[in-house]
Amino acid sequence: MNFRSDNILGCPPQILEAIAKANDAATHPYGNDPITARLHPLVSDLFEHETFVFPVSSGTAANGLSLGAVTPPWGAIFCHSLAHIAREEWCAPEFFTGGARLVGVGGDHAKMSPTALDEQIRLARNAAKPATLSITQTTEAGTVYQMSEVAALVEVARRHALSVQMDGARFTNALAALGCAPADLSWRLGVDALAFGATKNGTLTAEAVIVFNKDRAEEVAHRRKRAGQVSSKMRFLSAQLEAYLTGDLWLVNARAANRAAARLGAGLVAAGFVLAAPVDANLVFPRFTAERTAMLRAAGFEFLDWPWLGDDVVRLVCGFSTTDEAVDHLIRACGQA
Ligand SMILES: Cc1ncc(COP(=O)(O)O)c(C=O)c1O
Repeated sequence: MNFRSDNILGCPPQILEAIAKANDAATHPYGNDPITARLHPLVSDLFEHETFVFPVSSGTAANGLSLGAVTPPWGAIFCHSLAHIAREEWCAPEFFTGGARLVGVGGDHAKMSPTALDEQIRLARNAAKPATLSITQTTEAGTVYQMSEVAALVEVARRHALSVQMDGARFTNALAALGCAPADLSWRLGVDALAFGATKNGTLTAEAVIVFNKDRAEEVAHRRKRAGQVSSKMRFLSAQLEAYLTGDLWLVNARAANRAAARLGAGLVAAGFVLAAPVDANLVFPRFTAERTAMLRAAGFEFLDWPWLGDDVVRLVCGFSTTDEAVDHLIRACGQA
């Protein structure tokens, strides 16, 4: 049984049906097709603001392009020390920005503290131009920033004239957890550029860069082409995003993943295990002895070690189709191991 990540899953039938339907007819390439054209009003409606949406094929590209759109090559990007952009993207943000510097900011459970952010901005001043705040929502420790917490960070950022980018690889899990509107977690809080994740929560291969301002949209358009991210058959990416955002599929999926993780977290705590971070969304980080970890793996469970939260911590991820049976099976196995 696989709790390794949310992208080990395929996609729901609605996505495959949308791809099959997009395959029915020949149409213009490079995003000049009717499906891609429909994304603009669809996403603008959902975000209650004129919104420019650029389908891309990976979260790393979405991060790089959205960071590049708001950060000059001589800029500093402030993110949590555990941020995916700092820890797992092989200098893609530096590459996409043409050389910007990433500066790690501390804070519990992968959430930056406003005081630490302010301090790092002051310290970085002579090394690079403080340019961008990057917030991961849901965080790499599975926690979700409350809206007031994002607002406090943005307040510090604005005081220093920084732009705000959001790594929303699990944006919808955060939305589902907070029960707020997409606008409340993005432009209304001051987010300028959003890397909108979808693949972990139900599309097959589609993510998007989202911006809320026309000038910035032009910038993203040029950068996306230069990055080789303008797919010639873009309609197949757009069809996935359209199906994902239609009929609440994105929210239904995220709620299901979050619910499964809540069940898993509660079951583990009830069985006496300690968690390294609160379960706010779809990630669970228990502390296991090395023996327990080995026995679970020998029994066929797959999951990652997560030493960034502690040497004895593992990461268990629930996805949109994780069943209660699978969760209960894992909880029982943990108790037995
Ligand atoms: C928080 C976060 N951001 C960005 C990404 C990058 O996504 P991709 O693997 O599609 O490049 C991931 C993937 O694991 C992630 O967890």
